[in-house]
Amino acid sequence: MSPEQPAGDLEPVRDPSAAPGPAEPVTITVCPDGPLLVRGGYELLDGDDRPIDPGRATVALCRCGASSIKPFCDGSHKRARFRAR
Ligand code: FES
Repeated sequence: MSPEQPAGDLEPVRDPSAAPGPAEPVTITVCPDGPLLVRGGYELLDGDDRPIDPGRATVALCRCGASSIKPFCDGSHKRARFRAR
């Protein structure tokens, strides 16, 4: 903090590599012939509603069914020749 900047004017410092907060809007982008890219304040849960830590702010979710690291995309959609717009 600089001496001339009042403490009340400071924005919270956020680690850009940390997962986004829940107040951030979620966007889901459909990649042609590939995964779903999820960004924003999402929470990823497994089939028993337990949280999955994706370890990153943006995650690629498999929609072809060929990934060996489901629910994440591992690039297998290319070998599987997955086609979907
Ligand atoms: S979408 Fe990439 S491995 Fe399934």
